[in-house]
Amino acid sequence: MDILLERKSIRKYVKGNVKDKDLEYILRAAMSAPSAAHMRPWQFIVVKNKDIHEKIAEIHPYSKMILSAPLAILVVGDESKALGNYFAQDCAAASQNILLAATAKKYGAVWCGIYGDKERQNKFIKLFNLPKNIKPFSLIVIGKPDDNSKQKDRFESKKVKYEVWK
Ligand SMILES: Cc1cc2nc3c(=O)[nH]c(=O)nc-3n(C[C@H](O)[C@H](O)[C@H](O)COP(=O)(O)O)c2cc1C
Repeated sequence: MDILLERKSIRKYVKGNVKDKDLEYILRAAMSAPSAAHMRPWQFIVVKNKDIHEKIAEIHPYSKMILSAPLAILVVGDESKALGNYFAQDCAAASQNILLAATAKKYGAVWCGIYGDKERQNKFIKLFNLPKNIKPFSLIVIGKPDDNSKQKDRFESKKVKYEVWK
C-alpha cells in the first residue's frame, strides 16, 4: 500500500484498541519529523480516558468521532523553543507523520485542528492543565477504521507550474 496516496481522514471506527507497539511506532514517526533548526519543540499527550474524550467532544465542535475511538494524541509544544515563527510548521510536520504512521499500521486517523483558533486553544489549555509555555496544536484521533473505501487520485496538473508563475 502506498500510504502517501492512500491516506485519508477516517472518522468512523470499529471496536478495537491501538496496540502499544503500534502506538510507539506512531510516536516514533512523529518524533522523526523535521523541525526548523532541529529544535523539536513538540510533545505528545496520549489520551485514552473516555471521560476526557467526552470533555474534548464538548470543547471541540468537530471532534465528535473521538467518542468511538480508543485514543487520541494531542500534539502540543513549546512555542518559545521553536526557531523564529516555525512552531506551527514543526507541529504540522509531526502531525502529518502521525497520520501517515497510523495509515501504515492499518489504523484510521483524523487531524482535528486547534492551533489558529485562540478560543479553542484556551479550552484545551484549561482541560489539560497545560503549563504557560506549552501550547496545544492539533488533536489526532486514531482507531480501527470502519471505512475501507479507496482514496481517489487527487493529482491536478494545473496546480503545478514550472520555473516561473505562468
Ligand atoms: C489544520 C487542519 C485542521 C483540521 N480540522 C479538522 C477537524 O477539526 N475535524 C475533522 O473532522 N477534520 C479536520 N481536518 C481534516 C480535513 O477535513 C481533511 O484533511 C480534509 O477534508 C481532506 O480530507 P482527507 O484528509 O480525507 O484527505 C483538519 C485538517 C487539517 C489539516
